[in-house]
Parts: sequence; C-alpha cells; structure tokens
Amino acid sequence: MKIAVIGTGYVGIVTAVGLAEFGHTVIGADKVSEKIEKISHGDVPIYEPGLAELLKANLKKGTITFSSDLNGTIQAADVIFVCVGTPQGDDGSADMSQIEEVSRLIAENLNGYKVVVEKSTVPVKTSSWIKRTISLYKKSDQEFDVASNPEFLREGSAVSDFLRPDRIIIGVETERARDMLTEIYADFKDRLFITNIDTAELIKHASNSFLAMKISYINLMADLCERTNADVEQVAKGMGLDPRIGGLFLKAGLGYGGSCFPKDLKALIKIGEDLGVNMNLLKETDRINVERTRHFLEKIKRALWILKDKRIALLGLAFKPETDDIREAPAIKLIRDLLNEGAILRLYDPEAQANMKELFPEDKVRITYVKTPYEAVNGVNALLLCTEWKEFSELDFGKIKGLMANPIIIDGRNIFRPEAVRKLGFEYYCVGRK
Ligand code: UDX
Repeated sequence: MKIAVIGTGYVGIVTAVGLAEFGHTVIGADKVSEKIEKISHGDVPIYEPGLAELLKANLKKGTITFSSDLNGTIQAADVIFVCVGTPQGDDGSADMSQIEEVSRLIAENLNGYKVVVEKSTVPVKTSSWIKRTISLYKKSDQEFDVASNPEFLREGSAVSDFLRPDRIIIGVETERARDMLTEIYADFKDRLFITNIDTAELIKHASNSFLAMKISYINLMADLCERTNADVEQVAKGMGLDPRIGGLFLKAGLGYGGSCFPKDLKALIKIGEDLGVNMNLLKETDRINVERTRHFLEKIKRALWILKDKRIALLGLAFKPETDDIREAPAIKLIRDLLNEGAILRLYDPEAQANMKELFPEDKVRITYVKTPYEAVNGVNALLLCTEWKEFSELDFGKIKGLMANPIIIDGRNIFRPEAVRKLGFEYYCVGRK
C-alpha cells in the first residue's frame, strides 16, 4: 500500500513521518516547493521534540520521500491522508477552501481505487462534500471511498502521541476502506474505534471542546477561589480524585490557546447554530477563556498601579511549553495590553522568541528580547509568568531578587509555591489561590 500525505503543516508532517515509522511507504506532499525542499533534506520547519530525528532516520531508510508534485503523488497513492489547513473564517466557521482544492485535485488524478482520509479537523458532514466534489470533477469511472481519521496529537508531544496513541478513531462507510485503514494501523488493533464518518468527525470537535470546557470550568472556580479562602489547586485535586471527573486538564491559569482549542470550539458553535442547536454552553466556555488575560492585567495593575514606563519582564511566550508556537497564546494579548498602557517590556522564551518577534518587532525601547530569564528580570518592577516551561520552575530566586528593581512576581500558571517565594521576600500573586 502506498500512502500519500497532503499538507506538511503540524499534523501532516507528524502523520507522514509517523506512518513511515510504522513501516509504510509514504510520500509527503505540499504545493509549497521551498518547504518540500527543506523537509527533504531533514530540515523540520517547526520545533517539535523528536521529530527531526525521526524524519532523518526515515529519509535514510527510504520509507519516506517528499514531493511538490501533487498530481504525481495522488496518482501513485492507494490511500491519501488530507492534512491541509482548515483555518478559522470570519464568522468562526472553518475555512474549507484548501480541502476543496485537494478534493478537486484528487478527482482529476483518480487513476484507480483510492481511499481519501480526512485527517485535518473538519466540521461534521465534510466527507459528504469531499465525496460530492470528487464525483463531480472526476474524469474516470474509477471508484473511491472517503474516510475520517481525526488526529489528536498535542503540540510538544506530537511524535509520542502519534506513535503511542491511546485511541485511533476511524469513520468509514465501506468494508474496503475499513480493511485498508485497519491494515495501516495493524499494530494498534486493540485501540481502533471504528464508526460511521459523521460520528468520527464529530468525536474530534466534541473532544477538543470538552477539554476546553474543563479548562474554563476550573478557571471559573479559580475566580470563586480568589473571592473566598479556597485554593483552586486543591479544588482541582479533590475533584480529580473522582474517576468520573479525572484530574487532567484542570489546571487553572491564563486559559487555553494554540491552533486547536479556540478554533475548534468556535467551529463547533457555528456548526451547532447552523443546525439549529443552542450552543450557549460552548459560548460561555469561550467567554470565560477570553476573560483570562483581562483578569490577569487587573492583577498586574493591583500590584503596580500605573503601568506607564514600568519595566516588566515577561517569561514564556509560547501558548504552552515545549513548542515554539504562539498561535492564540495569552502572551500576545498581554503584550498588546501592556504596550497600550505604556509599559516597557523585556521578553524571554526558550523557543518562541523568533515567532513573537515577527508580531512585535524589537525596538530596544519598549520591546527588548533577551537570551536568559536573568537578563529579562534585570532592573524590572515585576516579573510575569505566562508559560510553564520547566526551566522557570528551576530558577535561582536569590539571583532574581538581586536583579529586580522590585521583587514582585505575578504567576499566570501557578508554577511557584507561594510560601516558598514569599519567604524569600517576594510579593507574589497567582491564580485562584492566596
Ligand atoms: C490540543 C488537544 O489536546 C489535542 O488532542 C488536539 O489534537 C489539538 O489540540 P494542543 O493545542 O497541542 O492539543 O495543546 P494542549 O496540551 O491540549 O493544551 C491546549 C491549551 O490548554 C494550552 O494553551 C494549555 O496551556 C491549556 N491548558 C491545558 C490549560 O490551561 N489547563 C490545562 O489543564 C490543560
């Protein structure tokens, strides 16, 4: 079986490399030839632990090749994984134009039976559109099937999520497609969940929105904790002891960001509303999340009063640790708000600085990027923590205190122990606990 993976973004490149690692013959394809040129030489365009090594090993073994010739790639493949982007459109719905474009290309190059697998996150019922598009544009009478195999990988642990999945969701409508996908995932037969296509499509949106809801729920509890004597970390721990709830994704803080949760939640709201379903539960989830940075800014103002010309260190720019991705990162909104207030910012992140520089270029007056957390805190009136990179929990606080103008820490991810930092002489503010 020859497998094509179209699109070399986050999901595409990890899928291509992962399937090659399972022992399949894979062609990764993308219309952007410069990208293909780089990846073919083992140059990964994103920071993702373990990905570069795995790509290089499979290039060497010859299990994976890359091409910008989409027509040739489609013709050569028995199974085509569609991993192109489905970005957020103006009304919150997913923009499906890239999926349409690939469907038409597949139609034009249908030279034998093929299974077209949606891997990108798509609205329920997309498979019917893909099917209709291919049927409408195909020039031969060759048969094809559409299937859904949503991807659940998390940035920062994408490679291990793909290689050691806890479930593989497959939506099919024919035996033939079911057999081919079962063969692709032969090593994980015990983890396959096979269902119809609409169900598989909905499982992806339903899972991401549920996790986003869990995060907003604990952040709502954090607001309650701040007005009482309760501690949100303990509330989360106590709740998580109930196996029906589970302890994961109950970390209060600056809220969720990234390329999935915010976009998928909005897309599901739109899907539901278009189908006439009241989606207020998810609208509220989004509203609580959007509030997080404003709430954090109020905390900063309570500590510093006037922000104009205050020097502020911001540690952590990525939307979460172990990635250089800043899409929908709380740090973006915070930087914008702080600049509007006239603050002077010193920014640090182990991986995401280059990306943030594109959005907020360095001017060395209001915005300075530095190479270490210690450089960041030099002479500042406060230290803000936005992403829980491991290195931040191992900082030398004695050194930090000596460098800061005022020893004030405002921790948006609750990574420090309040008693410990206060004992060292810091004024310490965090989320949902005293
Ligand atoms: C998510 C899903 O987990 C994954 O299954 C899907 O395929 C893509 O979307 P990802 O966006 O990479 O993955 O990150 P994830 O680890 O899920 O975190 C998402 C956001 O939620 C981050 O901003 C994180 O900081 C935040 N978060 C997570 C919390 O604020 N609290 C938590 O308890 C967990």
